Amino acid sequence: MNYAAPFPYFGGKRRAAHLIWQAFGDPSGYVEPFAGSAAVLLARPAFTGRRVETINDADGWLVNTWRAIQHDPASVASHALGPVSEIDYHARLAWLQERRTPELPAWLEGDPEAFDAKAAGWWLYVLSCGIGDPFGPGPWRVIEGALTDTRKLPHLGDAGKGINRELPHLGDAGQGINRKLPHLGDAGKGDLGRLSAYLQALADRLRRVRITCGDWRRVCTPSVTRAGCGGDGGRAIFLDPPYATSGDLYAHKDGHQTVAAEVRDWCTSREAQGLLLALCGYDDEHNDLLNAGWSVIKGKSGSGAGYSTRSDNGRRERIWLSPECHIAQPDLFGCVEAEG
Ligand SMILES: C[S@@+](CC[C@H](N)C(=O)[O-])C[C@H]1O[C@@H](n2cnc3c(N)ncnc32)[C@H](O)[C@@H]1O
Repeated sequence: MNYAAPFPYFGGKRRAAHLIWQAFGDPSGYVEPFAGSAAVLLARPAFTGRRVETINDADGWLVNTWRAIQHDPASVASHALGPVSEIDYHARLAWLQERRTPELPAWLEGDPEAFDAKAAGWWLYVLSCGIGDPFGPGPWRVIEGALTDTRKLPHLGDAGKGINRELPHLGDAGQGINRKLPHLGDAGKGDLGRLSAYLQALADRLRRVRITCGDWRRVCTPSVTRAGCGGDGGRAIFLDPPYATSGDLYAHKDGHQTVAAEVRDWCTSREAQGLLLALCGYDDEHNDLLNAGWSVIKGKSGSGAGYSTRSDNGRRERIWLSPECHIAQPDLFGCVEAEG
């Protein structure tokens, strides 16, 4: 079965997944420290037996959603459904934003089985109804339970933007999360049955996957990457940090070095030696790695096809691969032309 996350996600790497698995083979241990929609994990070619797989993200509600799908897909489905309504959309978004506190990741970090199915369902609803990133740092904030425009003056020149950025896809009225579901051969089932069946299939895929919340470094240690038996013995990490330009809540740390730069530094550290590593970025962002024997994959020139589902920055996207990866012969400049 071809799995896909039940929500749209900025920077999702579904289109690059086959390249990653060509490079990684069938590793015994696999870690996705910046999981987002876990597009690469979900596109892993089928295997039999055990593999040690870990996904992690710093975003508490995102991790809560994966955990809730893993443990209680039916409850998540029942909370996610509902007609697209502006009132419900704003109320659910406000409810989630108010509870996005430092205690949220701490709670998920401290108990590997912690999850809240209602919050997960509402999070899916908000992501599926909204345009762009509904949780982004725009001028709209939750104040005393209501979405409020915190700008001092109205941006008259922005007519048509503002809160409209947050509006549900009215053209999809009544569809909400359903428009994201792949066809499951589910004739005769209602919306709830279809969504439950899809989330149940995801739960089955995730049954043995460790799902953690917190900073990426916590899952790049030898104790996490160490693999058991099964697979070809490799230990692989797919690194897809937020791009500095993405406006991601977590792109910068303490206002200094970007997370992406921190990850690149780590890639050449002793801890990273011997691992199958793939690092995503833009342009020549991580080309220093070429001096350490790494290669870089570029999309086919002229195709305009990037790896994420965003077309605007697609041409600039690159994936750097550590020397341990299985790759076609790179050219003199360490470049590998992407296939497919
Ligand atoms: C580019 S997205 C990853 C997209 C993902 N590969 C996919 O296919 O959907 C980057 C992700 O990193 C997460 N993130 C940002 N800073 C982080 C950090 N310091 N540690 C762990 N995750 C982080 C964000 O919440 C976001 O989900």
